[in-house]
Amino acid sequence: MADQDLFKKVLSHAKEYGFVFPSSEIYDGLSAVYDYGQQGVALKKNLREYWWKAMVQLNENIVGLDAAILMHPTTWKASGHVDAFNDPLIDNKDSKKRYRADVLVEDYVGKLDTKIEKEVKKAAKRFGDAFDKAQFLNTNPRGVGYKEKGAAILKRLGKSLENEDLADVKSLIEELEIACPLSGSKNWTEVKQFNLMFGTKLGASAESATELYLRPETAQGIFVNFLNVQKTGRMKLPFGIAQTGKAFRNEIVARQFIFRMREFEQMEMQFFIPPGTQKEWYAHWKETRLKWHHSLGLGAENYRFHDHEKLAHYADAACDIEFRFPFGFKELEGIHSRTDFDLSSHEEFSGKKLQYFDPERQENYVPYVLETSIGLDRLFLAVFSNALQEETLEDGSSRTVLRLPAVVAPTKVAVLPLVKKDGLPAIAKDIVNDLKWDMAVAYDEKDAVGRRYRRQDALGTPFCITVDHQTLEDQTVTLRHRDTMAQERLSIAEAKAKISEATAFQTWLKGI
Ligand code: GAP
Repeated sequence: MADQDLFKKVLSHAKEYGFVFPSSEIYDGLSAVYDYGQQGVALKKNLREYWWKAMVQLNENIVGLDAAILMHPTTWKASGHVDAFNDPLIDNKDSKKRYRADVLVEDYVGKLDTKIEKEVKKAAKRFGDAFDKAQFLNTNPRGVGYKEKGAAILKRLGKSLENEDLADVKSLIEELEIACPLSGSKNWTEVKQFNLMFGTKLGASAESATELYLRPETAQGIFVNFLNVQKTGRMKLPFGIAQTGKAFRNEIVARQFIFRMREFEQMEMQFFIPPGTQKEWYAHWKETRLKWHHSLGLGAENYRFHDHEKLAHYADAACDIEFRFPFGFKELEGIHSRTDFDLSSHEEFSGKKLQYFDPERQENYVPYVLETSIGLDRLFLAVFSNALQEETLEDGSSRTVLRLPAVVAPTKVAVLPLVKKDGLPAIAKDIVNDLKWDMAVAYDEKDAVGRRYRRQDALGTPFCITVDHQTLEDQTVTLRHRDTMAQERLSIAEAKAKISEATAFQTWLKGI
């Protein structure tokens, strides 16, 4: 499927099969806000759990937290969000459309990357088995030219944004002759900063109400609770605090479905470390998080690191783990070396010490922090879009199959009586009642069994158990595999053992 067609198919499939709906759709929806349906909520919950088990359950020195969305307003002064959580925006005077200036430039560079990929494909075809991609990328004049041009553009963009030189960001857009994607016009306004936080009020009357913000990241709930957790949990550095929860950003350029939302969920972990050890922990968490992504089996070639040119106000090093979405490589997770910025700043604004006594160093200090931060909705989109496939079968017919990693699939097995009579539904229901204690299971008796298989394929259910007349005689069932469509005859206990093994967290996570 071409990338654009795939993305359209992702949107329609997500809606048609109960994964994602536009928010308040009966009122024509709310831009960049989405609801998760009966299948989506299960997939999302399983992804959250896959992260939580890897981060909290499997690490003795990482504990969980669930901080409130509403926080004291000074939090956001201390964190720098009131002053610095801005996007540079630019309007096109003809189309009246508003864009993020940095995204326009990054999309331009993305097109250069696409050109490089096309050169690689052409050369791979020409040279066949003898093709050496790394050598080609380093020596092919056209490819090298695109790469150098892209790097120079991003460097200049990073520098201009860091220096708040918005006039230069506009010059860059003009020099690159970037046109409005909608109208093709190059008639741009100046670039302006826009704060992304949603404001709200706490209190009964307008006069006495306190201005609050909906949290734009979950991280600050962890920082303000650092001492609470450290003291009550008797935690020794290095240790981490992890949490999942909603975050809110008034994204101006909200597009690409659940990739960029105004209300979304983050899964963040702040790892507290002694000052001076941040380089080593940065390398550690980069590697660990990439391994975790690879464990989901979406293909190692679909991930890459992207080092930040422009560092956020709190970081001394940062990178993204990018994923190949249907619209190209984009940020999926951020890994940030946050120094002691947050804890020091909260010390300053609150007047309370947020320090740790290090028994080995015999000194008090403000710990440094290494952060891993992933958007759950983005992870959902990565997994879902990667899984959705149209297949032509040997007999020429086609099937839509959602090859979700079995460990996160909403339903692990569907139990299907071959026919709705002869006592088969009763046996199938007994199997459901047995399995449901251990896994998510569905029962379906409507339509011909082939159609029911197709429906479960489209929902991403990795296994089906079919109960037929032979089951009445020898208590065996057919276990049908989603990905290969292979069928095998097994006892009910054997089928259960196979499904349990294939869908167990341990099976998937033990490699990391
Ligand atoms: N605490 C650090 C932090 O919030 P970030 O790079 O702004 O860093 C972290 O966000 C992750 O949150 C991103 O990598 C992305 O997966 C997700 N994310 C950020 N903004 C988002 C949005 N508007 N919609 C969906 N996910 C978003």
